[in-house]
Amino acid sequence: MEGKTVKSSQTTITELMIPSYANFGGKVHGGILLGLMDKVAYVVASKHSGDYCVTVSVDGVEFKEPVEVGDLISLAASINYVGNSSMIIGIRITSLKPKTGEEKHTNSCYFTMVAKDENGKVTTVPQLILEEEIEVRRFCDAKKLRALRFEIKKMLNREVKDLTFDEMKTMISENRCLIKI
Ligand SMILES: CC(C)(COP(=O)(O)OP(=O)(O)OC[C@H]1O[C@@H](n2cnc3c(N)ncnc32)[C@H](O)[C@@H]1OP(=O)(O)O)[C@@H](O)C(=O)NCCC(=O)NCCS
Repeated sequence: MEGKTVKSSQTTITELMIPSYANFGGKVHGGILLGLMDKVAYVVASKHSGDYCVTVSVDGVEFKEPVEVGDLISLAASINYVGNSSMIIGIRITSLKPKTGEEKHTNSCYFTMVAKDENGKVTTVPQLILEEEIEVRRFCDAKKLRALRFEIKKMLNREVKDLTFDEMKTMISENRCLIKI
């Protein structure tokens, strides 16, 4: 299977935040932005793999500041890493207020997508051709992110699943919760 470059699947989408995207507070719903992230991640993953892809996990999504109706949101996405069937897509989100020209980098996040064949089975994706030092750096970052994610999963399975009820009570004794069992 031949490799593909990062550039061959790079995608940016820009969307105007319209009034129907707003919540009761007049700001844009977080779910609208998540939907756009998922969409652009899908575009990049399906361009790279040439297959149908599914979203497996999301890392680094934060909503630090509200997005307003009228803002232009741009999502620049590129493939940072490929495993066997999985791909990590990095998304850089910026918001622009067209009236003032004020532009902000709102968030960077990472979507892990997996390619599937026509029978719904996971399938191998082309390797990634890295043409610039920044692409090598991103590949290394994503490899670390993936390892960390598996480590956290293992840690939760090991360290919390094995706690007794009394140990759990001690662990959260100073937190803001009341156990009423
Ligand atoms: C994604 C899915 C195919 C993984 O199934 P699985 O039995 O764990 O398959 P595998 O173990 O072969 O894993 C496939 C790849 O996913 C990766 N993966 C699995 N779980 C993961 C997770 N939680 N986070 C990151 N990557 C994950 C594996 O590392 C593997 O990557 P690799 O092939 O590059 O090494 C399966 O969980 C699935 O279909 N999930 C539903 C996805 C979906 O429908 N998303 C839309 C939600 S509405």
